[in-house]
Amino acid sequence: MKILVTGGAGYIGSHTCIELLKENYDVVVLDNFSNSCEESLNRVQKITGKNLFFYKLDLLEGPSLHQVFEDHKIDAVIHFAGLKAVGESTTIPLKYYQNNLTGTLNLLSVMEKFNVKNLVFSSSATVYGDPATLPIKEEFPLSVTNPYGRTKLMIEEILKDLYQSDKEWNIALLRYFNPVGAHESGEIGEDPQGLPNNLMPYISQVAVGLLPRLSVFGGDYDTPDGTGVRDYIHVTDLALGHVQTLPKLVSNPGVVIYNLGTGNGFSVLEMIKGVEKASGKQISYEITDRRPGDIAACFADASKAKKELGWEATKSLEDMCNDTWNWQKKNPMGYRNHPKKD
Ligand code: WQD
Repeated sequence: MKILVTGGAGYIGSHTCIELLKENYDVVVLDNFSNSCEESLNRVQKITGKNLFFYKLDLLEGPSLHQVFEDHKIDAVIHFAGLKAVGESTTIPLKYYQNNLTGTLNLLSVMEKFNVKNLVFSSSATVYGDPATLPIKEEFPLSVTNPYGRTKLMIEEILKDLYQSDKEWNIALLRYFNPVGAHESGEIGEDPQGLPNNLMPYISQVAVGLLPRLSVFGGDYDTPDGTGVRDYIHVTDLALGHVQTLPKLVSNPGVVIYNLGTGNGFSVLEMIKGVEKASGKQISYEITDRRPGDIAACFADASKAKKELGWEATKSLEDMCNDTWNWQKKNPMGYRNHPKKD
């Protein structure tokens, strides 16, 4: 089977390409390299010893997207491509709507034209907003508080409408919790452009000496140690979740929705301690004001994915911290040790 992976050069995309190639899928990657680079795909091929096809293109470029489907008989699409920074989305909402919504609509139109109707969509736990209780189940009410999250929720609704109009579609909405870590080889990992928005790359850049100190956003939440609690999931576990979703699509399930999390919550201070243990470094931090829009705690009930996909996260917090540090220490400047090839 041949799988098209949009955003396949990105953090989760590149890790998913590894697991797809290991499962002997043929892989075609589309990426505009706006938040990634070709080097990650070179390393995916080096790690697996297998080749993949890739096209540097933007989902907003209709004609080139059409050509990809002319060139390849695609069996299913895993759609990662999109802008994903919560804070940034509040400052440039139009760019987020244009890129995430229009890009997805272009992709769906070309898929329909070529009768490719199997889709795995990269959604996010952010669609749950601030849940009334924990752990979070797939049938919980949905609410979003920022343009990034709204694009995810809108695309989920678009996909449900598409299925209602044409029952030949098979669509999996995968709601990720907090992806962290890196491939065990340390060859690929999270490589944020500029200052990291997310906790773990920020901590690992403090550990490796790129940044002086971490600001802990709030120490007065109603959590065991007062700092924010999240369901951190190893990116390889997350990648395997995508691979194990594909056979489900083949069984013509219509629209299916799964939480991809571990079911465990860890606090900011616990993550700091985990990276200190993995790296042997002391992480300098200070507790500052809460970040607007943050919630106190969030973790998944992942039992539905276990029951219906036979998938569950297996890597521990120690694995996540060790693999994060292994990537960071081997690639202090991320992929920038290898200049982008435009
Ligand atoms: C985690 C915890 C912060 C940075 C977001 C998106 C979500 C998904 C994952 C895309 C929180 C604290 C963070 C820092 C800190 N992204 N923190 N200092 O906000 O849970 O989720 O990223 O799909 O959609 O909403 O992740 O890593 O930003 O924050 O104290 O410098 O770390 O307050 O408690 P978040 P995060």
